Amino acid sequence: MSRIEAVHARRIWDSRGRPTVEVDIVTEAGARGRGIAPAGASRGSREAMELRDGGAAFDGKDVMTAIAGIGREIAPALSGFDVSEQAAIDAMLITLDGTADKSRLGGNALIATSLAVLHAAAHEAGLPLWRYVAGDEAVRLPLPQIQIFGGGAHAERRVDVQDFMVIATSATSFAQALEMTAEVYLHAGKLMRKRGVAQGVADEGGWWPAFSSNEEAMDVLVASIEAAGFVPGVDVGIALDIAASEFGKGGQYTLGLDNARLDTDAMIEKLLRWIERYPIVSIEDPLSEDDEAGMIAFTRAAGSKVQIVGDDFLVTNAALIEAAASKGACNAALIKLNQAGTVTETLAALRAAKAHGYASIVSARSGETEDVAIVHLATGWNAGQLKVGSFARSERMAKWNEGIRIEDGGERPAGFACASVLARR
Ligand code: PGA
Ligand code: ZN
Repeated sequence: MSRIEAVHARRIWDSRGRPTVEVDIVTEAGARGRGIAPAGASRGSREAMELRDGGAAFDGKDVMTAIAGIGREIAPALSGFDVSEQAAIDAMLITLDGTADKSRLGGNALIATSLAVLHAAAHEAGLPLWRYVAGDEAVRLPLPQIQIFGGGAHAERRVDVQDFMVIATSATSFAQALEMTAEVYLHAGKLMRKRGVAQGVADEGGWWPAFSSNEEAMDVLVASIEAAGFVPGVDVGIALDIAASEFGKGGQYTLGLDNARLDTDAMIEKLLRWIERYPIVSIEDPLSEDDEAGMIAFTRAAGSKVQIVGDDFLVTNAALIEAAASKGACNAALIKLNQAGTVTETLAALRAAKAHGYASIVSARSGETEDVAIVHLATGWNAGQLKVGSFARSERMAKWNEGIRIEDGGERPAGFACASVLARR
């Protein structure tokens, strides 16, 4: 492969209309790669830091400092590297930034650059991204987790729980999982209109959660699955992202809708009742990022029945995943590229999860773009699962549609990761 010849960064806009970083790379052989940074709203405190300008413009969220850093420091440092040297390039980026949290050059600048390098290398190899990262491994399309109702920080805290999602557990192909979800999403919308509470969609495209309790949202979700002609818990299961760090700290949880303040034990009790009552197959961030004891206790109590996913709790960090595994906290890891800050660190986190028998779910952020790289990475890295938000808005649909193209392409993956990839232990 050839050397990196040109690096160019620009400001583009994400799905919330906020500035974000895009990087284009061209190699000596003329291959091109483009990386785009996504952005979270319910961020873990141990994630790689985004570099934002502050000040009055765009609510302080501009990224011109990050873009200037790419031109001034990252571009010159990249010249001379062969585009295939992803690990060496990512190690250089980490050293160049020089901070533990990537705050000097910005996790947003680093991940956009790192992804652009990966894309350019795949392009130069003449391969689709998923095939380039898969190498010789036989890989499968991921099982999707798809949001039906938004909530939490993505819907003005209208309900406490952030994502009410479905997993098409009886689907035998990626395309079929989407067909089933399309029916559930459609019927959920009809039910909302019938109840007179249809109020558009939340940040990731799920129906706006006009409910008076978290349980009501799950009742309507079960009714939507049935209305779509599926058996809840057999054909379609429920996945929740509690995103508990948004309303819990120091072992105290304040549920706005239920007007209740719960300690860790009471929060766990509540979640266990939900698992008894609803066909839940996966729960993400059930306790807050600082509640390790709670996470261990909950995994002990529920880990044999449901998948327990660490997002804010594990922040796509191999060391944190290894520590959690040694203590028995969670049984699955959410994998977000911009939490780690480089492709190589993301892959290390995924490998740590697999090495410890954890399931892995490659995930988008609530602030997204038309970029579909994560679908290729979830497939090529054989992650098993993919979470992208809901079944509406093109920054989400672009990704689901890309999965259909990969499944339908001339050169396709070895198959589809069925519900057996869901962690239970
Ligand atoms: P975020 O939320 O992208 O707003 O952080 C997504 C998630 O919590 O999974
Ligand atoms: Zn989450």
